[in-house]
Amino acid sequence: MSTSELKTITVIGSGLIGRSWAMIFVSGGYRVNLYDNQPERAATAIAEIRKQLEELEKNHMLRGQLSTAQQLALLSSYEDLAQALEGAFFVQECIFEQLEAKQHIFQDIERLVGEDVILSSSTSGLVPSSIFSKVQNRSRCIVSHPVNPPYYVKLVELVPHPKTAATVMDHTFTLMTKVGQAPIRLRREIDGFALNRVQAAIIAESWRLVQDGVISVKDIDLVMSEGMGMRYAFIGPMETMHLNAPEGLEDYMKRYGEGITRNLTSFGPVPNFFGEEAKSIFKEMCELIPSDQQHLSARRDRRDQLLLGLAKLKKDH
Ligand SMILES: NC(=O)c1ccc[n+]([C@@H]2O[C@H](COP(=O)([O-])OP(=O)(O)OC[C@H]3O[C@@H](n4cnc5c(N)ncnc54)[C@H](O)[C@@H]3O)[C@@H](O)[C@H]2O)c1
Repeated sequence: MSTSELKTITVIGSGLIGRSWAMIFVSGGYRVNLYDNQPERAATAIAEIRKQLEELEKNHMLRGQLSTAQQLALLSSYEDLAQALEGAFFVQECIFEQLEAKQHIFQDIERLVGEDVILSSSTSGLVPSSIFSKVQNRSRCIVSHPVNPPYYVKLVELVPHPKTAATVMDHTFTLMTKVGQAPIRLRREIDGFALNRVQAAIIAESWRLVQDGVISVKDIDLVMSEGMGMRYAFIGPMETMHLNAPEGLEDYMKRYGEGITRNLTSFGPVPNFFGEEAKSIFKEMCELIPSDQQHLSARRDRRDQLLLGLAKLKKDH
């Protein structure tokens, strides 16, 4: 048995993200205590995880070296926080995205665990200095922000509190790598972290181009899915530029930097995503994919199948 097989991680909240973390950690051989404050919810989540793991095994997409049965044996559900935290060296919080709820749960957790236990939050938008403001020892606190669905999309943004110890960042980085995720380190906290800031920039210019009548909703999506996205699944914007000029990035900027600057200076203000103007964009999107549950869930299933295929491809590279 490797040492990881003897270690326990507590996952707090058994919704979409809590279930995913539980699956990822057991795939790495960690024991996982899954806690939810709603009766039966953590137990129901484990039943759901069982189905998902069986399906993954059938598709040869189960992560890690252990079988479904071995992974499930590492998983337990709890309705009592103190019991769920017993023996844990790492806590991954995944409750609702509500600041006060997160502040309170971390206050409760801190009272119940030893000094060296790492407290990690899955928040997608709250900065560590807000979430951990009620924790006494913030040097052991960190945000580990996953991307949905984390089982296939492996990026985890590690965001420190101003007081986070370097060793906590290092240990979390090592843990995430061990369980097969792709962690990145932010050097300081910032609203939106890295992923959501880049995403916001893409959303803003896509929205403006549609709103200004330059392009349709369908075609701006194709700019990404048939254009930029083809390479971005494997190489990011920096490497893309580095490879796209004979002598690398500096050469690229000599050739194209002026054009990029010109484009950037012609970007309009932050679009209005809510007013009357936005309505025609909502309508255009819904003509392509109606927003009823039947159509949306069919497209979500398609998205997940495609991501599964992409994850398979990336696994081999
Ligand atoms: N869904 C996403 O795409 C996504 C992606 C990245 C990060 N996140 C973040 O992950 C976190 C969880 O999101 P989700 O989509 O899994 O939410 P969810 O609503 O699916 O699940 C939340 C779970 O937490 C439980 N819960 C609520 N308060 C609790 C408490 N005090 N103690 C214990 N359990 C509690 C609920 O019963 C529920 O089961 C959020 O902070 C969210 O921002 C979500």
